[in-house]
Amino acid sequence: MEQGKIEEKPLIELIDLCKIYVTGDEEVRANDGINLKIMNGEFVAIIGKSGSGKSTTMNIIGALDVPTSGKYILGGIDVSQMKDDELASIRNKMIGFIFQQYHLLPKLNILENVELPLLYAGKGKAARKEAAMAALDQVGIKHKWHNFPNQLSGGQQQRVSIARALAGNPSLILADEPTGALDSKTSKEVLAFLKKLHDGGTTVVLITHDHSVALQANRIVRLYDGKIIFDGPTDEYIEFESKLDNNLYG
Ligand SMILES: Nc1ncnc2c1ncn2[C@@H]1O[C@H](COP(=O)(O)OP(=O)(O)O)[C@@H](O)[C@H]1O
Ligand SMILES: [Mg+2]
Repeated sequence: MEQGKIEEKPLIELIDLCKIYVTGDEEVRANDGINLKIMNGEFVAIIGKSGSGKSTTMNIIGALDVPTSGKYILGGIDVSQMKDDELASIRNKMIGFIFQQYHLLPKLNILENVELPLLYAGKGKAARKEAAMAALDQVGIKHKWHNFPNQLSGGQQQRVSIARALAGNPSLILADEPTGALDSKTSKEVLAFLKKLHDGGTTVVLITHDHSVALQANRIVRLYDGKIIFDGPTDEYIEFESKLDNNLYG
């Protein structure tokens, strides 16, 4: 185990978390009483089939949305009641996002794309450039800094989006289906990179519906109908999953 590396302080705490969507007279409990603690330095995958509540959980963990009830404590701060501008500021300071579709701005070059969150965070020009170039170097794509996104392959664009996530030195890297649009070789590279970040002490939360992707993490949380049905080390998950009734949990 990697116990020595993990600081015994929760970075993320979800307490009796519920997110209820009401459409017409129907109520969907997208998160239905989630209790989850993620320590600093962990590498956790959240897995579940479509509709199980992954995106809802990701939006709350990423401070993009707030729960209907329950608490979300991020780095000791209660963010569950925060207003949009406060959430934006927390996101900027603490979280680096990696999305399936990269979300690079086509009219900005690679360097400017990576600098953008640093600009929002209020960093000066020189500091922005230095941090962005260092992050691009870290993902091995510094030499492309002056190119535009459409001049890069999908794998290269995802590396740029990883650099953008890293540049602000966030406490948490939150990756939502980061390999969903990539071929298997490039997917492996991206996952290897997330592992490397984890080895360097960064907390990584990876959201995926893909079993083989989830297995790269050290701990797996399985959602089903908005509830956690498994939370434990990856090797125990493999055993758990082999016993699952596929008709029940898909
Ligand atoms: N904005 C929304 N309005 C109404 N229902 C929603 C909304 N977002 C998600 N849901 C519902 O909540 C449940 C969980 O969705 P989601 O978190 O997107 O799951 P996943 O990401 O695992 O596919 C689904 O039944 C979905 O239809
Ligand atoms: Mg989803």
